[in-house]
Amino acid sequence: MADPTSYVIKPVVDIILKSTTKLIREEFSRVHGIKKVIKDLESKLTSIQSVVEDAENKQVNEPHLKDWLRKLQNAASDAEDILDAFTTEAYLWKQRQKEHKFPTTLSISRTSYKRDAAHKIEKILERFNRIAKEKEAFHLNIKVNGGDIVSPNYTGYFVDKSGVVGREDDKERIMHVLLSNEFDKERDVSVIPIIGMGGLGKTTLAQLLFNDERVNEHFEAKMWVCVIVQFDLTRILKEMIQFHSKMKLDDSSTSDLQSRLLEYMVGQCFLLVLDDVWTEDYLKWEPLKDLLKQGAKGSRVLVTSRITKVKDIIGTQPPHLLGYLPGEECWSLFAKTAFQGVSLSSQRQEVLEDIGREIVRKCKGLPLAVKAIGGLLRGCVDDVNKWRKIQSSEIWEIEEENSGYDKPKILAILKLSYDHLPSHLKRCFSYCSLFPKAYIFHKEELVKLWLAQRFIQAREQEKEEETGIKYFDELFVRSFFQVSVIDNKEIFNMHDLIHDLALSISSPSCCLINDNEPYNF
Ligand SMILES: Nc1ncnc2c1ncn2[C@@H]1O[C@H](COP(=O)(O)OP(=O)(O)O)[C@@H](O)[C@H]1O
Ligand SMILES: [Mg+2]
Repeated sequence: MADPTSYVIKPVVDIILKSTTKLIREEFSRVHGIKKVIKDLESKLTSIQSVVEDAENKQVNEPHLKDWLRKLQNAASDAEDILDAFTTEAYLWKQRQKEHKFPTTLSISRTSYKRDAAHKIEKILERFNRIAKEKEAFHLNIKVNGGDIVSPNYTGYFVDKSGVVGREDDKERIMHVLLSNEFDKERDVSVIPIIGMGGLGKTTLAQLLFNDERVNEHFEAKMWVCVIVQFDLTRILKEMIQFHSKMKLDDSSTSDLQSRLLEYMVGQCFLLVLDDVWTEDYLKWEPLKDLLKQGAKGSRVLVTSRITKVKDIIGTQPPHLLGYLPGEECWSLFAKTAFQGVSLSSQRQEVLEDIGREIVRKCKGLPLAVKAIGGLLRGCVDDVNKWRKIQSSEIWEIEEENSGYDKPKILAILKLSYDHLPSHLKRCFSYCSLFPKAYIFHKEELVKLWLAQRFIQAREQEKEEETGIKYFDELFVRSFFQVSVIDNKEIFNMHDLIHDLALSISSPSCCLINDNEPYNF
């Protein structure tokens, strides 16, 4: 006989998520070593929560789905019991702390309590993991609070650590300011500016810090917002909320967003990265600063900027002035890029290394330039003439005369890389100037756009899409695109200087119209 029950589980999942959020903030969870596993539980439940409503609606016609909801209900009710018990424990623990009755050393019974506690949550997490895996088979629509799961327009916190060279000292110096309580501000949130010219590696350094285990352990919440040019408070608030909730927000007013964020942030020890800030206007920063003050002591804001003045307007800690990447590290980055996957005779290696080191010296410690030129020479180890041509290009001279050591002309160096592209790739690349700055795109999406423009000429026995993918990959290895990985999916964007390059070569045949900026035709 068919099961006449209809399951309504969303309310209980919502309640559990409220408990996990609360418990994560409790000192008790840290002391008892269960904070991480509760965070994992929270993230798993959030992904389940996003499809529960759709599952509830469809269960009448799908017995498998009903069965899945039944399992979810059982697990949810066990989880609720466990978390209730922890909440009570946490409360009693706090009371005992207040009364100073709590022993300072770990007793045997407390050690076994810790083990037990973590074990119980791990078990329930395993159950939710299985349940979450099963949900994939039902192709449920993701919906939460009337909105969809966010697919971020702006991103940037991902870094492939294996591709980064050097910067250890810079990282440790900033890490100290992030983690040590000697930099805590009584009234203001501590803001640490990383200042340096474009392409130097500010974002990369911030990414290294943001993804470090010590940072994960230390902060209760982390948020990354790519600010770029316009310091738009509403967008920044939205992205901060979206970053932690992973949910897309409907159009909300700035004050709504402020109160939502406050709800989340009060008393939380957070790390916020504001990447690529350009504003020199204190009045724009002030409302955000006032909000950030509500976080717990120890919260930190890391700001990257090319504008030196930002350190005076936003910074509260001495700025970290990022220096050029040292010569040997630049060489190592260049060699990684230019020689990847090739084996050379020692004689050829010697010739190319001499030329390569000279080119690297001319890139003057700018990793973006090193990568662009390394990418341009990749796959050309048999063409020593090409290496010599790049080495003796006149752009190095122009740069020397006009800007000197402090201001290498990065755009000219990037342009050199563009000039050596075959014409079909030039066309594809300059088309990307139509994207807004920091725009995130998928490989297949861009290939489709090129196809629509008839930019792709299929190579023998290849479909146009396949050729398009090859065009894309060729531009990628030359560092015209950057990759991030979110939820195991690759997404791409362009460094803002590369975007500037695209704009400079595409105008006047293409133009970008921002919907938030007036435009005169
Ligand atoms: N230390 C480094 N090792 C390897 N690649 C680097 C390093 N620093 C920067 N890069 C690369 O150089 C490019 C520009 O770096 P980015 O951090 O975006 O510069 P900025 O934020 O200062 O403009 C990126 O492609 C990045 O991967
Ligand atoms: Mg940057």
